[in-house]
Parts: sequence; structure tokens; C-alpha cells
Amino acid sequence: MWVDHGPVHYPTKVSDRTRKFFEENEFKQKNLFGLDKGLLYDEDEPNTAIDKTLLPWIPVPIEVPHEDILKEGMHLLDTGCYTAHRPDSSGWLSICIHGMSSVHTNVPEDYGLPDEWEDDESDWTDIARYCPKTVEWMREVVRYEKYTRVRFMAVLPDGWLMPHVDRNRIHGVGATNVAINNPEGCKLVMKDWGEMPFDPGKMFKINTGYEHAVWNRSDEPRIHMIFDGDMGDYFKSKVLEGYKPYA
Ligand SMILES: [Fe+2]
Repeated sequence: MWVDHGPVHYPTKVSDRTRKFFEENEFKQKNLFGLDKGLLYDEDEPNTAIDKTLLPWIPVPIEVPHEDILKEGMHLLDTGCYTAHRPDSSGWLSICIHGMSSVHTNVPEDYGLPDEWEDDESDWTDIARYCPKTVEWMREVVRYEKYTRVRFMAVLPDGWLMPHVDRNRIHGVGATNVAINNPEGCKLVMKDWGEMPFDPGKMFKINTGYEHAVWNRSDEPRIHMIFDGDMGDYFKSKVLEGYKPYA
């Protein structure tokens, strides 16, 4: 775990499957342009591209005050506030700013709760007060119509996430992922697509139907944010703006 500003024997050795996945996919590069053959770009209906694209990711051109947010996210990590996130990983930690609680970092089913709790019972959590700049940015700049789960996600040095998919289809993009930092040596790799072009302050919609894995081969924690909820018209228009060059 992360205690007293440093790691304590937590990330276990990377799994053979994760290592092999990286060996096979890390340096792949495919052309993203024109993948959807221009068929999905519709200025009046962003959902067409959002729900049907085959792109592995779409950049979202929204400003991210990543240095301020990193200070808040790292402070919570340094002071032991994150919780271990899920199996098939090591050194992967999470905390909710908005959600069912700060430690309910998974879907309701994982806690034996009804699915609708995600929608009905999500609110700003007790830790929101400890990250005021992040909250202000969410309210004023990101402007989702409705947030459900919004989380800081940390991958500790030597931490890893086993290759997995988060949905059973490859059409359309899922959650929003924001790189608050992205230490050199930490990569999200997608099957057949290679390394995602994360830099600090870059926001993406990710097609989590493609198999993907993360491995932090740096000596710093990697902090990202994941947004779930209803994007609303403003945010969708920004996704479409990011999609347009690839249409
Ligand atoms: Fe995932």
C-alpha cells in the first residue's frame, strides 16, 4: 500500500498475461483517421458517433488544470485515503469524489446493491471537500449533466491491471478518462491499437470494448480520473469536436 508518501510492498510482480499482452501490443500503431468512413459525423446528433464509432479513443478538447488537480489527488493518496480497487490487478487504487460513497469505487452489484443505486444514491462524497479545485472544475468546466461515479484512480509504481474489457461490444465509447499525470513508463495499451496517447491534462472517451491493460513501469504513482454519468449536450458537443478530425 501507499503509506507515508511511499509504496510498501504492495504491487506484486506483474502477471505473465499482462507482460505478454504488452509484448504483443505495446508498439503497435494503426491509423485512426477515416475508420468510420465519414458515416457517423452528425453535428445535430453527437450520439451517432459516440454510440457507433469503431475508434479506440476520442480526445475531448476540454481544459484540465492538471497541476492543481494532481496536488489534491496526490494528497489523498499520500494520506492513505484510497481503497484497493479490484481483482486481476495490483497497486490499483481508487477513491470517489462523487458516487455512492468515497469507498464504493465499483458498480453497485459488487456490493450486493441494486443497479439503480448508482443513479439514485450518488452524490458528492465526504472527500469532495478535500479537493475543492477538482470539484469546481467538474462543476464549471466539465459540466456533465449528471455525475454518478467520479473517481481518482491511482496505479502505483510497478502496479498493473490485467488485460480486460469493460463492455461486450466494440461499437461506441464508454467512460471518460482524464490523465492528471502520466509518468513516463506508465502506459495504457490496447489490443491491436498500441499505447494510448496520454499526456498530463489530456481527456479521452475510451472504447473499453477493446481489450486493454495498464502497467506502471515508472517510480511515480499514475493518477487519472474516470467520469461516469450523463454527459449532457455540452459535453457531447466537445466529444464530437474531438471526433471530427477522425471522422
Ligand atoms: Fe478498463
